[in-house]
Amino acid sequence: MEYKRNIIVTGGAGFIGSHVVRLFVNKYPDYHIINLDKLTYAGNLANLQDIERMPNYTFVKADICDFETMCGLMQRYAVDGIIHLAAESHVDRSIKDPFTFARTNVMGTLTLLQAAKLYWESLPEGYEGKLFYHISTDEVYGALEMTHPEGVKPPFSTMASSAEHHMAYGTEFFRETTKYSPHSPYSASKASSDHFVRAFHDTYGMPVIVTNCSNNYGPYQFPEKLIPLFINNIRHRKPLPVYGKGENVRDWLYVEDHARAIDLIFHKGKVADTYNIGGFNEWKNIDLIKVVINTVDRLLGRAPGEDMDLITYVTDRKGHDLRYAIDSSKLQRELGWEPSLQFEEGIERTVCWYLDHQAWLDNVTSGDYLRYYDEMYKNR
Ligand code: NAD
Ligand code: TYD
Repeated sequence: MEYKRNIIVTGGAGFIGSHVVRLFVNKYPDYHIINLDKLTYAGNLANLQDIERMPNYTFVKADICDFETMCGLMQRYAVDGIIHLAAESHVDRSIKDPFTFARTNVMGTLTLLQAAKLYWESLPEGYEGKLFYHISTDEVYGALEMTHPEGVKPPFSTMASSAEHHMAYGTEFFRETTKYSPHSPYSASKASSDHFVRAFHDTYGMPVIVTNCSNNYGPYQFPEKLIPLFINNIRHRKPLPVYGKGENVRDWLYVEDHARAIDLIFHKGKVADTYNIGGFNEWKNIDLIKVVINTVDRLLGRAPGEDMDLITYVTDRKGHDLRYAIDSSKLQRELGWEPSLQFEEGIERTVCWYLDHQAWLDNVTSGDYLRYYDEMYKNR
């Protein structure tokens, strides 16, 4: 079948990538969606069981650092769009092993850019109708001050679309114009990859878009990140390691809202532009953790707050950024996007999902999911 578009989604077996793949495969039956993923510890094809037999979906196990394979795939699938999510994504791992982050996030992105360049420049129409869409993070901007350390609004007063959240913990926000100032090896590697993507536009004329998003939460997140790790630990009554005093602030966005933004920007975004994507939803870690504990306890039929004593303050993360807060008003104004969920609903859905998918969590925490590819794909 001749498809209207042939799109590679890198990192499609990961947390955000699997939501993007699912959305595109279901919403656009006339697009061929090629999920390109190395299946590191963070890639899990079980995340895509519901769509893996769809005719417009193809999975390719490959490393974005493998230049020849990337060139071959561009040609083989006549790729006209790339949505690039593949990355090493966990700050704590980057502190222990920065080289892997430089390899995948910097060299992998450069390899993919170069493969796309060679293929697209070889076509009669050149870059027309092509797009390299790079998914990045708000962490490249560094850390913000807490001008209102106590917060000026009670939790849950946030209307998903209101500007009220702007007054939560500080008056400064990351905007598209904010200067890059990454602190962790993870954010330094993402910043570097963002620069390469923009350089390919400025130097070769490649159509690119970069978006920088805040912390995502929701189903299928690897349980090394705060929310799924803590839900799992509360369920099993294991300690909850809170870094430092738990005072750091993050801006949380439900992962499906990020996937919706990616869809919108992929189709309507302005080439060579940058959009910030955020949840309008700032939380101090310790306040968020208390909400998670109360929600898990309630849903498990335990007395609300029964598990508060699992909170265990531990040594702070090295170079721990104090506060992230995104101003995504440009995306709202220019393309009409806004988060669809209020945090109360998002967190309820998320906790329910993890409690209902204990087998998924057990599979991931035991490492059994690493065999899924061999069983499902290797001999196809
Ligand atoms: P993740 O760690 O859950 O998934 C990453 C995926 O990339 C995995 O499937 C992994 O197998 C794959 N991958 C890693 N190295 C690869 C390689 N060399 N070649 C091919 N595939 C490889 O990450 P995530 O949380 O879904 O994040 C996806 C993207 O979004 C990343 O670029 C990240 O920087 C960005 N981002 C994440 C967040 C967040 O809160 N999770 C927020 C903003 C931006
Ligand atoms: P994380 O989910 O790792 O995302 P990021 O570092 O990209 O923001 O962490 C979210 C916040 O939670 C961050 O401030 C670090 C903190 N944290 C803990 O306090 N304990 C933990 O065990 C983890 C994983 C994170």
